[in-house]
Amino acid sequence: MSHLDAVLARLDADLDASLERLFHLLRIPSISTDPAYAADCRRAADWLVEDLAGMGFDASARATEGHPIVVAHDRSASGPSALFYGHYDVQPVDPLDLWEHDPFAPFIQTRPDGTRCIRARGAADDKGQVMTFVEACRAWKAVAGALPVPVSILIEGEEESGGKHLPPFMRAHADELRADIGLICDTGMWSAEVPAITTMLRGLCGEEIVITAADRDLHSGGYGSAAANPNHILARILADLHDDRGRVTIPHFYDGVHELPEAIRRQWADLGFDVEGFLGPIGLGVPAGEQERSALEMIWSRPTAEVNGMGGGYQGAGFKTVIPSKASAKVSFRLVFDQDPHEVRRHFRDFVRARIPADCKVDFIEHGSGRAQAFDTAAAPFEKARRALSAEWGVEAPFIGCGGSIPVTREFKEGLGMDVILAGFGLEDDRIHSPNEKYEMESFRKGARAWARILAALAA
Ligand code: BES
Ligand code: ZN
Repeated sequence: MSHLDAVLARLDADLDASLERLFHLLRIPSISTDPAYAADCRRAADWLVEDLAGMGFDASARATEGHPIVVAHDRSASGPSALFYGHYDVQPVDPLDLWEHDPFAPFIQTRPDGTRCIRARGAADDKGQVMTFVEACRAWKAVAGALPVPVSILIEGEEESGGKHLPPFMRAHADELRADIGLICDTGMWSAEVPAITTMLRGLCGEEIVITAADRDLHSGGYGSAAANPNHILARILADLHDDRGRVTIPHFYDGVHELPEAIRRQWADLGFDVEGFLGPIGLGVPAGEQERSALEMIWSRPTAEVNGMGGGYQGAGFKTVIPSKASAKVSFRLVFDQDPHEVRRHFRDFVRARIPADCKVDFIEHGSGRAQAFDTAAAPFEKARRALSAEWGVEAPFIGCGGSIPVTREFKEGLGMDVILAGFGLEDDRIHSPNEKYEMESFRKGARAWARILAALAA
């Protein structure tokens, strides 16, 4: 039996224990955006350090002004080195009443057809995915006494809250962290049967606007129509963001947006994306967005403007005849190709200001931003990883795009000069960021086996 076969057998034999470990991590409510959970974020980091140190990594939790960053090394092997990245923080759980169980009491659900999944906040994004890699390392060390290649692990706690501490940390510790290739497990497969490597990520620009009209809330009979209503102003601005063909109307918004290279367009067309299969399960059937674009383009290679939250006036029970003083909205832009997040922010602010009446005011609150990124799949490790994924699932793994953002990947390229292989095992219906998040048991099991294969392939 080869080392790899023994490692794969070990992973299968150790599945129950590995689930126990994952459940331990899932029980910690490491919600990074809410300061009330700061101690839990630290607990999650400490748990990972202990687990990694226990299997022989030189591991520590590095303090930042935000949540700690876990760094671990095992460089006893020779050959090309890898830096794995993941995040231990999770999204908030609200609305809590839509969960069918406690988000931080993980359990295994068995469906009538015998398939199983792991239910908990963070099961798919990203604790379950992080542990696929950790378990692969554990199995290699247990079976072969060493990893096939030198490995460093970087697990942060601010990915979900646009934290700013990781990029400067990576720059300050570039020599410690730099490796020949980056590995990230925070993305999805093409489908439940087909694994994939993600080669493009969209960028992001988050912006909050607060419109103030009168200096207090007013009686809508006493002041209505004479006093400006910030809800109306806000609604008009937000409605103006798109034309009736679904295009974003902010001047210069499409600067830096290119058409897909022909080779990628053909490759994506061959994937045979099923729009009904994509929208049907979420209760929809008609793609919104830019009318002349395919749904796959919309989510992978076109920019968006989305209103993520809006508020103003009375939203309690019953009814209140009020003209509010303030109205606000949180807007995010997904960016592609060479769009510059700072320029997008500037043009958006101009667009908003031009629509504010002279006696009203608008304040802007800047949220996180980052550029889109694409990886050159010509580098040899991409083909090695693709073959390893294909071997595990028994089908050819395609290169795919991704609608989401993992802003730190830019830091790998620009700060450390590294390419990154994004191999993740999430599925569209994992409900990441939503109530009742889950991770397929097969994603966890095969994901760990796939990393074991990828580590072996990188050494070859
Ligand atoms: N794991 C996701 C990114 C992702 C989403 C990959 C969907 C594949 C499919 C990541 O944790 C995430 O949610 N990122 C945020 C970044 C933001 C908060 C800066 C995102 O995309 O909204
Ligand atoms: Zn994630």
